[in-house]
Amino acid sequence: MSVPLSFDGRVVLVTGAGGGLGREYALAFGKRGAAVIVNDLGGDIKGGGRSSAAADRVVEEIRANGGKAVANYDSVEDGEKLIQTALDAFGRIDVVVNNAGILRDRSFARTSDTDWDLIHRVHLRGSFLVTRAAWNHMKNQKFGRIIMTSSAAGIYGNFGQANYSAAKLGLLGLSNTLAIEGQKYNVHCNTVAPTAGSRLTETVMPPDLLESLKAEYVAPLVLWLSHESCRENGGLFEVGAGWIGKLRWERTLGRTVRQKNEIMTPEAVRDSWNEICDFTDATKPASIQESLQTLVEVLSKVDSGRGIGTNPTAAAATNPSEAVGHTLPEISFSYTHMNCILYALGVGMSTGEPDHLRFLYEGSQDFCCLPTFSVIVAQSAMTQLGSVPGLQIDFSRLLHGEQYLEVFKPLPTSGTLTSRAVVADVLDKGSGMIVLLDVHTYSGAELVCYNQFSLFVVGAGGFGGKRTSQKAVVTAPLPDRPADAVIVEQTSRDQAALYRLSGDWNPLHIDPSFAALGGFQTPILHGLCSFGFAARHVLKRYAGNDVSRFKSIKVRFVKPVFPGQALQTEMWKQENRIHIQCTVKETGAVVLAGAYIDLHAPVEPSVSGGTPQTNVLQSDLVFAEIERRVKGQGQELVKKVNAVLAWEIMKDGESARHWTLDLKTGHGALTRGVTGGQADVTFTVADQDFMDVVTGKLNPQKVLDTHTHTHTPKVEFLQHCFSTGLLLREAEGQRERHVEPEAGGRPEGLRQTLRSSPALTLTSAAH
Ligand code: NAI
Repeated sequence: MSVPLSFDGRVVLVTGAGGGLGREYALAFGKRGAAVIVNDLGGDIKGGGRSSAAADRVVEEIRANGGKAVANYDSVEDGEKLIQTALDAFGRIDVVVNNAGILRDRSFARTSDTDWDLIHRVHLRGSFLVTRAAWNHMKNQKFGRIIMTSSAAGIYGNFGQANYSAAKLGLLGLSNTLAIEGQKYNVHCNTVAPTAGSRLTETVMPPDLLESLKAEYVAPLVLWLSHESCRENGGLFEVGAGWIGKLRWERTLGRTVRQKNEIMTPEAVRDSWNEICDFTDATKPASIQESLQTLVEVLSKVDSGRGIGTNPTAAAATNPSEAVGHTLPEISFSYTHMNCILYALGVGMSTGEPDHLRFLYEGSQDFCCLPTFSVIVAQSAMTQLGSVPGLQIDFSRLLHGEQYLEVFKPLPTSGTLTSRAVVADVLDKGSGMIVLLDVHTYSGAELVCYNQFSLFVVGAGGFGGKRTSQKAVVTAPLPDRPADAVIVEQTSRDQAALYRLSGDWNPLHIDPSFAALGGFQTPILHGLCSFGFAARHVLKRYAGNDVSRFKSIKVRFVKPVFPGQALQTEMWKQENRIHIQCTVKETGAVVLAGAYIDLHAPVEPSVSGGTPQTNVLQSDLVFAEIERRVKGQGQELVKKVNAVLAWEIMKDGESARHWTLDLKTGHGALTRGVTGGQADVTFTVADQDFMDVVTGKLNPQKVLDTHTHTHTPKVEFLQHCFSTGLLLREAEGQRERHVEPEAGGRPEGLRQTLRSSPALTLTSAAH
């Protein structure tokens, strides 16, 4: 079971909450801990009259259920007063559900000024006034959730509802802009188009349908969209009968019906009408920038004498049968540890993180190269595409669409690697052409890694080629649940300037005037840099920064990142696959989509008689066990503990290991190393003392006094956290594990036996 959505401490205003849908929302919020302002004018369905009874009844119901609520009887046209009620009663406002509504249905010819104005005043202007009154409070507290109530009548039109349809779709426009303006303040705005039996619908629905379309089948969506954990912003949802669907815009590829230096005529529009309206290969623009981008492209195409749609230029220039299978000249790439370190810095590694040293310092014992450095080794193959017969690529229109990388062995930290690239396929996407470039990289005769660059050439489609390819490594959809882990990391102002030194010299990433030509206000970060950040986050979170566990990564590049913005990597673990989505924290824009990283399973600690391991600490075994338990019962432990615990294990007076046990988010996770997030408590403890506590030989309090520095003063809590034995003992099906010193071996050498037993004991080598 996932964690229930609570609104404890939140103050929620529901307008028109005296009946129908609003009442249901108010009751549901009240049950989940919110303090609710129940607003209702108490008038009739057409907007006449007023009464306090409706709001009072709902307030009483909420209080009878043990909830907190106050009534407000003002019209939504007095927006300030509604918000003032919230501030007077509860001191803040977190959520506004704009729900109040009336109907004045008339066929269009009979719609009077009053019919039009009243509907607009209550629905559109009322929502505007209430929301504006709440806006600055939400902005200042960096949290707010706003719901607009639209209608299928607005989305699709409905006979006799011209006034209502116009107002209801106006609310969507309002919401679209509020979503953009509020994003950076964590103020989100979404729109619902509900269908439910109420007094508004009783005249248009048969009684049995009215009865079955319950308001309670709508309220859960409104609650989810209002919750602090919901990231949705600017969405439009139809909801009813327990079903919820999301809507978006779709646009045909369209056709340019104008030629350079010629007049555009209605006849040309008529003659292209079928193509203008043909939804084959339709796009789904999601922002005004995307919308305008098309026009910019059209202007440049017309100017250069090329059309859009069926593309005779591309047809003449592209011959897939000639290009596919074409092998490019072999590339040789020589590098030293300096390149590995420069790359690691380029993708955000820092000496501020102790476990990054292995990537930044060639003298560190386990110095290694980040696996994603493999793209650097192979990327120059892209520049050779200009020489492929059957392809004519305008490099100024080339976008890096997707990337797949598979690593077959950890990359050497220096050496010379050779890469062989082949055009694996050429696809016709209508609006552009995709070139799949496969690059295999070798160290001598040994295959080290495989890259597939998926390159999109804007405007080069329409040559009559195939749309898909068996050879394409495809992206994967995200699991349908909240992320298991999230790492947020600020990129630096000079991130692109640093990253480019690894070999991507495109001026788009450094030169403001070049960036402006590409339609960007400032130079953008390399997509492959975000890719490096995301891979690193997964390595850290799920593989303890062990590069030998990295198998492969696939990403689709969606939106640019500007240096200085924060990258947020959300991760979902499914077996050895970690699904990822990377967004810009400040804007919520998705940067990497459909992405995943496959890891090799961790190497199990050796069992009795196995090869002794070097650098093994006694506590490693306990953490291996904790990891196993967290995998099985993580969710339960998250509920119980709700904290992030960190350990620094000392050996011979020196820091030997860091562990972070996240029992706060998702299904919980144990990570070797220090994660980016703040731990609730950090323990610094000697390996031996740790074992002594776990085996019950040592009182944790004693160790706490001498070895820990903590952020929480509550001793019982610390004891609870520290006693990892507690975690162990709590688990069912306990087994016995003996840890014995390896005969005659180094003190750290461990040999263990596993056998079933009802009790758990841990014995360890004293040293
Ligand atoms: P309802 O009539 O049961 O509830 C609307 C409430 O708003 C009433 O209690 C009314 O007193 C209150 N109200 C009206 N004018 C007000 C004002 N100026 N200030 C404060 N309160 C005012 O209707 P229902 O069905 O619950 O509708 C809720 C919202 O959902 C409305 O915006 C409606 O347009 C919308 N909607 C409902 C659909 C449905 O199938 N029920 C379909 C599409 C949209």
